Amino acid sequence: MRYTINTTNYRDFDTLEVNREPARAYAVPYSSLDSLRQTPFSAERESSDLVQVLSGEWDFRYYADLSELPAVLDTDSAAFDKVHVPSTWQRTGYENPAYINCPYAFDERPPLLPEKMSCGVYRRFFTVTDTDKVHLLSFLGVIACIDLYINGAFVGYGEGAHNTSEFRIDPYIHEGENELVAVVHKWSTGTFLECQDMFRENGIFRDVLLYTLPQNYISDYELVTEKTADGYDLTIRTDVCGAGKVEALLVKDGAVFAKASANAGEAIELKGLDVSEWSAEIPNVFEVYLTLVADGKACMTLRQYAGFRHIDIVGHVFYFNGQKIKCKGVNHHDTHPTRGYALTFDDLEKDVRLMKQFNVNTVRTSHYPPDPRFLTLCDLYGLYVVDEMDVETHGCGCWPHENIDLISHDPKWIPRYLDRVKRMYMRDRSHPSVLMWSLGNEAGGYACQDACYAYLHEVCPAIPVHYEGVCRNDRVAYDVVSEMYTHDDVMRRIRDRKHEKKEYAEKPFFLCEYCHAMGVGPGALEEYWELFYSDDIFMGGCIWEWADHAVLHPDGRYTYGGDHGEWRHDGNFCVDGLFYPDRTPHTGAREMQAVYRPVRAEYVGGNLFCFTNTNRFRSSGYLTITCSMKIGGSEVWTKTLKPDIPPCGKLEVAFDLPQIDGDCLFDVVYTDSDAFVAAEQIVLREQIPAIPIGSGVTLDETPDTATFRFDGGELAFCKACGAWTDYTVGGKELLHADPVGGKGLRPNLYRALLDNDPAVQWKWLSARLHDMAVIPTGFTCGVEDGVGEAEATFSLEGGGCRIFDLTVRYVISGDGSLLVRASISPVGNQEAISDLARFGFALELPADMRDVTYYGRGIYENMPDFKVQSPIGLYDTDVASLQEPYIKPQDNGNHCDTRFVELRRADGTGVRVDAVDKAFCFNARPFTQKLLCGAKHREDLHDEGTTVLEIDGFVRGTGTASCGQDTLPQYRVDASRGLSFAFCISPIR
Ligand code: GAL
Ligand code: MG
Repeated sequence: MRYTINTTNYRDFDTLEVNREPARAYAVPYSSLDSLRQTPFSAERESSDLVQVLSGEWDFRYYADLSELPAVLDTDSAAFDKVHVPSTWQRTGYENPAYINCPYAFDERPPLLPEKMSCGVYRRFFTVTDTDKVHLLSFLGVIACIDLYINGAFVGYGEGAHNTSEFRIDPYIHEGENELVAVVHKWSTGTFLECQDMFRENGIFRDVLLYTLPQNYISDYELVTEKTADGYDLTIRTDVCGAGKVEALLVKDGAVFAKASANAGEAIELKGLDVSEWSAEIPNVFEVYLTLVADGKACMTLRQYAGFRHIDIVGHVFYFNGQKIKCKGVNHHDTHPTRGYALTFDDLEKDVRLMKQFNVNTVRTSHYPPDPRFLTLCDLYGLYVVDEMDVETHGCGCWPHENIDLISHDPKWIPRYLDRVKRMYMRDRSHPSVLMWSLGNEAGGYACQDACYAYLHEVCPAIPVHYEGVCRNDRVAYDVVSEMYTHDDVMRRIRDRKHEKKEYAEKPFFLCEYCHAMGVGPGALEEYWELFYSDDIFMGGCIWEWADHAVLHPDGRYTYGGDHGEWRHDGNFCVDGLFYPDRTPHTGAREMQAVYRPVRAEYVGGNLFCFTNTNRFRSSGYLTITCSMKIGGSEVWTKTLKPDIPPCGKLEVAFDLPQIDGDCLFDVVYTDSDAFVAAEQIVLREQIPAIPIGSGVTLDETPDTATFRFDGGELAFCKACGAWTDYTVGGKELLHADPVGGKGLRPNLYRALLDNDPAVQWKWLSARLHDMAVIPTGFTCGVEDGVGEAEATFSLEGGGCRIFDLTVRYVISGDGSLLVRASISPVGNQEAISDLARFGFALELPADMRDVTYYGRGIYENMPDFKVQSPIGLYDTDVASLQEPYIKPQDNGNHCDTRFVELRRADGTGVRVDAVDKAFCFNARPFTQKLLCGAKHREDLHDEGTTVLEIDGFVRGTGTASCGQDTLPQYRVDASRGLSFAFCISPIR
């Protein structure tokens, strides 16, 4: 068949759509698709033959440049490949993946598009059996735009990547086989509104549906629930093509709860319903069945889940069903390790289930409306949704002095904004899970957003409107004040009503993004929650972001921006999720699970503990709370309780505890049936045992060496270098004498940069802490009462400048243990001195010491400001398991509050390090810091045939400065007045 190809729609600013059907509800029962049948839902009452999914194998022809696309395309002679629809060109091999954060992929000024661009032609056949029926083709997601053709004729055009484009195709079809051709351009004028931070992909990336409807059909509907003095009213408004009567059934758990009917065009009213409300905690859903009856015959029935809820904003407080809810949120993008944008129902369900499992109650669909089934899943499982329209104009700049208002503030774009907000609203308005509408992301503004707000406010006064972008201009806020990554000092000003903008005191405050989860972290999540819980003005917020975006290759490698030959890219900034691309949790997800816990425990004093139920609707009775007390890592007491603490309630419990003594910890684990919900720990008493010093040491001295001999071994120092040259016990090497880049103990003030270090890393790099020279300046030694003693001093220099003086005092006992007391005092005045990554030492151990036991924070990695997920305990592991395999490697696997750590060989011999006076941090790796510093991908790391043990007295927290606030001051390492700490190394024989 021959097709005359339209050559202007995609670039013509006035062509927003051609022959597209008006926006409407996701009306026809897509929910009857097999996948949703698996949900606990009976489909008996509905028509299941109304929709057919055309996704599957399609013909596809890729044109690297538009100039290659013939003016008249003959599909009989064109050579097609086969692709699966939905999919994207970048994930099926036609184009290389390309990740860009802020800019557009081209330099043109809106609405001008580059002359050169690629395009793709999709083709498939479909069968029509009854041309008397109404046929609608529905594209749930095409990027950048679609020109639709059928049987040789042009049908219509649509843009708006994450909005549904529907076309009525009756005039073009005939009984039997029909040919569908879709031409998809890489960019359209709509692309100026789709500058989201993500891999930029193209294609038909969501399902394609064919509706076959009777001539009389329900073309649109809306469920509106309203709280009244007598319960709830449900108003069902329908649009009907043709005449008839609509009968509505409200069904709960298979039984009819209420019913009513009305003539086409009239609203159906169900009044005074005594229903249980819907919330994310208790997602009470009803089914609504709508049957169109014409001439006494049922023409079609469709269904939709319904939930009853009401939202009110009173002053600065956001109420959901009368309760001041807190959003334990995440930002969710559509991203899959191999399929990119094309998520299946199972992928979506997996994300929703994981969110529930990790104690999330809110999801912002950043930065576009989700697949419609996602909302149904949120209705069913219980998640509040901030439903965001598909608008971001970040390519116009980020800061006010740039062009941020270029599009959003230019009224000529209003029709496009309205088109997008309307399509989102019409499709999603009946879902109980929608908590707020969002007018897009990072689009400056606000003239066009004002038009959207006016529209939403008129059609849907019941649901508040959010848009973060206005906080940077004089509109300040729509229904709630929203910011991203707000620092804690500003949060306090908001709480204390001291913010300079008065609107901040008048409306609820929402953090649409906070705690950027890139790399190790996010830090200080718990501190945000202390703030959120401290005042009703705070609604909580959504962590950025749910999952890493990266491309998984058949050999198991992950790639990110710049790995695919992109000329413009933003590196690994897309690898910033709480979960790896395959949804394996990062430590950050564990931290979130802990901080978002439903119940929080506090120690009151004596034997008294207080439990607070942070749920707003659900009593705590579904949780089993297991408490245990441990002394020195061993359990001395345990108790299980299942209290029914009312929502927001508190319960004080007096436990029959043994004496609080020694190093005493109180662990609380929350489970739901057998599923882990969260854990937390209260340190009741911290006690670091004293280290015994024993005699029996002799010293052999020469002008160059000092050799201490003890029971079964020796420790020899080179006086000139101030470091040991031999440390053997029982004839075996205990610690390497010559670690890479240093001798004996290698002082360590640096770390393989974290994604969260950019705010501070320049200080470390300019002081050259990464290749710091350790220059010996003195050595003394002796033996007193059979105890060996030595002192080595060093000058620590970066780029030839003295930064610190380091003194290390050694005490050698007769059992071969080595107590180390180290202190640094600042000499230079570099910025770095007051803000170090760490102060500690790296030790190199024989490569066969790989079994690890420690008593400290685990089992997950942790940092001083990132540790709720890791209670102090006694853990057995090995060096390999201590590594957290970040896609972009960085200093990971730290364990704070360590009382001791052992590294052993298979035969049980090895090294133990004990805390002295205060706990330390450790990590252990099969490679050096140097290798880690240079690694761009996890594949760059390999076993270097060594075991590096890092012992730190001080470690800077991670913070969240990859995009958010820096490490809070209390978690930084300030060495401007010097620092010291101690630890004790001993052989395990
Ligand atoms: C925000 C933006 C997100 C993402 C994030 C950084 O400012 O809204 O889309 O870019 O920063 O990862
Ligand atoms: Mg952006």
